[in-house]
Amino acid sequence: MQDKIKSLIAEVEIFTASTKEQLEEFRLKYLSKKGILTDLFAEMKNIQPDQRKSFGQMVNELKIKAEEKLSKFQSALEDASESAPDAGLDLTLPSEPNPLGSRHPISLTRNRILDIFKRIGFTVADGPEIEDDWHNFTALNFPENHPARDMQDTFFIEHRDGSDSIALRTHTSSVQVRIMETTKPPIRILAPGRVYRNEAISARAHCFFHQVEGLYIDEGVSFADMKQTLLYFSQEMFGSDTKIRLRPSYFPFTEPSAEMDVTCSICKGKGCNVCKYTGWLEIMGCGMVDPNVLKNCKIDPDKYTGYAFGMGIERIAMLLYNVKDLRLFSENDVRFLEQFKAEA
Ligand code: PHE
Repeated sequence: MQDKIKSLIAEVEIFTASTKEQLEEFRLKYLSKKGILTDLFAEMKNIQPDQRKSFGQMVNELKIKAEEKLSKFQSALEDASESAPDAGLDLTLPSEPNPLGSRHPISLTRNRILDIFKRIGFTVADGPEIEDDWHNFTALNFPENHPARDMQDTFFIEHRDGSDSIALRTHTSSVQVRIMETTKPPIRILAPGRVYRNEAISARAHCFFHQVEGLYIDEGVSFADMKQTLLYFSQEMFGSDTKIRLRPSYFPFTEPSAEMDVTCSICKGKGCNVCKYTGWLEIMGCGMVDPNVLKNCKIDPDKYTGYAFGMGIERIAMLLYNVKDLRLFSENDVRFLEQFKAEA
């Protein structure tokens, strides 16, 4: 009997618990009402009176050791659960706010331009940024090897002789050709997109930027129609008191051609450093589609006429948001971009 108690004491001494369940098993085994100690104390009356004292002492020792173990591991496991990773986590606190993104100012400006023209029946068309010579130049009436091709410094991808070369499109006018080749008039489209020119990067020029092209072809379309449409656009874009003026210009694909100015939206025409004290800002090129271009696209120039216009989105965005350096639009600086948060 005494040996049995001794081995129980030894067992208690080496006991360790790493989970609360193990500790509870231990408590049930030794210290609960149905546990070993209860049995041992009940055994007392069957022990020879001369041995009772030493038996009692041993059972007591076992009891004390078991109780010590229990309380030691109880507090150890308690401490461990407090320092666990989720300890002290207050689940009622509000979560980390999700920062709200914002649209790029170029997208905002493009969408505004498209919305204004969509209201008067224009739809959106698309074309590739890598273009062949035909769509970017030849069909648009740029004669082969003519210096007019130097108006726009081109990034060539494959510079073969003349009409075979492949280049990054220098303007969205290439989309005009693609649409006219495949669509029967009436045509009323807008072609927004990125264009590329081999220019030194500065506050006012970049080697890539964005344009929106407009094209309207139907029977009896006149220069007056174009002028009225562009006036409508300018007033929707810059305010109802905006005036426009058309200055004669040259593009190989339009005849007659013009540059369109709007009254400076910043000084309202009084003169400031943005409009270089002229009161006017140039915002787009435009003109009546050259009959040669219609012919190149298999549209009968005796039956149909049309106008086209093209504007730089960066230029309009700079005026709308008073941005002084074009490079900001492509630098992805969050401090710049997050200022446009409020707009949809
Ligand atoms: N494609 C011309 C440019 O990039 C703009 C333009 C478009 C002019 C359509 C007239 C008609 O400068």
